[in-house]
Amino acid sequence: MAILDKHRVLEKNVTLLAIFAFLVVTIGGIVQIAPLFWLENTIEDVDGMRPYTPLELAGRDIYVREGCYVCHSQMIRPMRDEVERYGHYSLAAESKYDHPFQWGSKRTGPDLARVGGRYSDDWHVDHFRNPQSVVPESVMPKYSFLERQVIDGKYVADNLKAHRFVGVPYTDEMIENAQVDFAAQADPDSDFDGLLDRYGDNVNVRNFDGQPGISEMDALISYMQMLGTLVDFSTFEHSGTR
Ligand code: HEC
Repeated sequence: MAILDKHRVLEKNVTLLAIFAFLVVTIGGIVQIAPLFWLENTIEDVDGMRPYTPLELAGRDIYVREGCYVCHSQMIRPMRDEVERYGHYSLAAESKYDHPFQWGSKRTGPDLARVGGRYSDDWHVDHFRNPQSVVPESVMPKYSFLERQVIDGKYVADNLKAHRFVGVPYTDEMIENAQVDFAAQADPDSDFDGLLDRYGDNVNVRNFDGQPGISEMDALISYMQMLGTLVDFSTFEHSGTR
């Protein structure tokens, strides 16, 4: 009873209630936030992760510009139905080079975190031109204009620099060669050895939209095709934070 009486005093005195509420929130906040200052790294390092290539980064910008995130998430939750449908749940490390994150919170369409390699480039071209031609009941808008928008990667080095500024480990060499790498990735006849040296052998080098020249469609498909493919889950093991 005594406790209840004391609590009643708290409840009836706004100032006292505010002070105690503040204290409780402060303690809760410290318990959650303080350890972050002592942990060396809150994101587990995972083999295979690399920064986006210039062409993929341009594709990602188109994804953001067109608001694809309004209908698509890129975040597989660790729940059985999601994992069975989309594959291994998303790791924090898989979006560590995303500025801003594309996790999204709305799924009018399917999650895209692991869409890379699920369909052929041709399928994507048909689907972006006219989604209803491949999935008749689709409510996704048409994006056929993307194949007519030619891009030259003029600003892609600046884009890499901006990402380096916020912590993505692009090297001077990557920035110097950004425009060359951009063009090389969309042209299988180019000399793309430098691109693979800089970003790794798992970079897809193809004429993604099948048309001459580099269009926004090429960039967007190059981005789609690498999503969720960098980490090899047949060998992946959690190692805890290191
Ligand atoms: C109005 C909502 C909406 C918008 C905006 C939208 N989509 Fe979709 N998307 C869907 C729906 C619904 C589906 C499922 C039916 C289908 O495959 O068309 C889908 C399917 C897809 C698929 C196939 C996924 C799978 O696993 O089958 C891809 C890839 C895709 N969208 C990419 C994009 C991209 C890239 C953009 C932006 C350029 C975009 N979508 C914009 C609604 C949308």
